[in-house]
Amino acid sequence: MYQSSWLLLLAAVCCWLCCPGSRADVGKLVCYYDAASFARGGPAQLSLHELEPALQFCNVLVYGYAGIDAQSYGIKSLNPELSYNRQHYNQITALRQKFAHLKILLAVGGDRDLNAELEPDTAKYLSLLEQPDRRNSFKVSAANELSKYGFDGLDLAWQFPKTRPKLQQGALKRAWSSVKGWFSSSSIDAQAEQHKEQFASFIRELRLELQRHGKLLTVSMLPHVDAALFIDIPAIMSFVDFVSLGTYDFQTPARDPKQADLPAALYPMYDRDATHNVQQQLEYWLNQTANAQQLLISIPSYGRAWQMTPESGITGFPPIAATAGGVPDGKRSGQPGLLSWPEICVLLQQHVGQGKDTGTEHLRKVGDPTKRYGIYAYRAAGDNGEPGIWVGYEDPSTAAIKASFAQAQGLGGVALHDLTLDDFRGQCAGEKFPILRSIKYKL
Ligand SMILES: *[C@@H]1O[C@H](CO)[C@@H](O)[C@H](O)[C@H]1NC(C)=O
Repeated sequence: MYQSSWLLLLAAVCCWLCCPGSRADVGKLVCYYDAASFARGGPAQLSLHELEPALQFCNVLVYGYAGIDAQSYGIKSLNPELSYNRQHYNQITALRQKFAHLKILLAVGGDRDLNAELEPDTAKYLSLLEQPDRRNSFKVSAANELSKYGFDGLDLAWQFPKTRPKLQQGALKRAWSSVKGWFSSSSIDAQAEQHKEQFASFIRELRLELQRHGKLLTVSMLPHVDAALFIDIPAIMSFVDFVSLGTYDFQTPARDPKQADLPAALYPMYDRDATHNVQQQLEYWLNQTANAQQLLISIPSYGRAWQMTPESGITGFPPIAATAGGVPDGKRSGQPGLLSWPEICVLLQQHVGQGKDTGTEHLRKVGDPTKRYGIYAYRAAGDNGEPGIWVGYEDPSTAAIKASFAQAQGLGGVALHDLTLDDFRGQCAGEKFPILRSIKYKL
């Protein structure tokens, strides 16, 4: 009796020493699923039936997005067709009956919770943090929502204010800022220091509440949210299950309409913002936490696409000057300046003889033998004034390179943004969800 309990204790200590962060925590594939695609309808609609083939590859499914009610500070459904959205919650969490291994989280924010000007609402995300009673309202309502609809946890894709694009500042301000530190916290959020502390308290409080209900708590960093301003990394790490870093959309047509560039480089590029790449973003977090297994890098399943003008030149070599904003809405993704992988793959395919007839020649693909910066494809503007296209994107092979990078760094895994933009019908090469599969194969 006495002896056997000693053995148990020994075994426990040994396991604790030898396998920190149990095996299951490594090589995680977290799949984001933006339900807006379901509300949109049309050819881009990914039905639940079409979603299923993806789920065998995902360890976690993150359902996006819920919002925050500006009066009560409770969690709310973002779908105006009300009950419809919550019916969808039930349908999603019911998938666990078929995919028992899958954890299903409800994400809040994600830049989908908009204000009256249709911009991500950061004001209520900050004011919620400021008062303990507001944090409490959110905590209680979120825990109820998760339990009621059967989610396994909550993902905070918190809408902090973003750093501004450098180009919009103008040369004078840029010169000034380099001298005076103008481009600093106070211009983004004068109370950043308090908000950072409050967010850490919020995480701690949420953790306690969710733990009582047996629910997970995770954080998704959004692109251009400066962790140095808002996240007390050492203070939050022990209270979250994982953090997925916002390592995508460094350059987008919405932020940088006049300059196209590779949107999600793996390593720093010459003469660019030093933080606009996966490696630097990750290094910042690794510098402040010993637990790499709690960190994930994000990989997009889409490209960012600009219209090239005659002044953009014909070489396609980035950065591309004088672009005229994003390409119009893709038929499938329905978002300006964004092309899903299947949309890109169609543009890359050469239809012999059809190019001339339709006036739309295929795009020329430019690969990246260094495997460090990413790939792009383009068609320069036509002589007749027809705009060209420049798209920096991810394909199954570049996604695999990033997944290998995550493995080599000993990270918890990889987050895919997002399932609805991968080729879920298998139109590119016959296989469904090729980017997802390619990542899974590497992990
Ligand atoms: C990480 O820490 C090292 C050593 O202190 C430092 O040189 C480097 O700049 C840091 N990296 C980031 C991205 O903050």
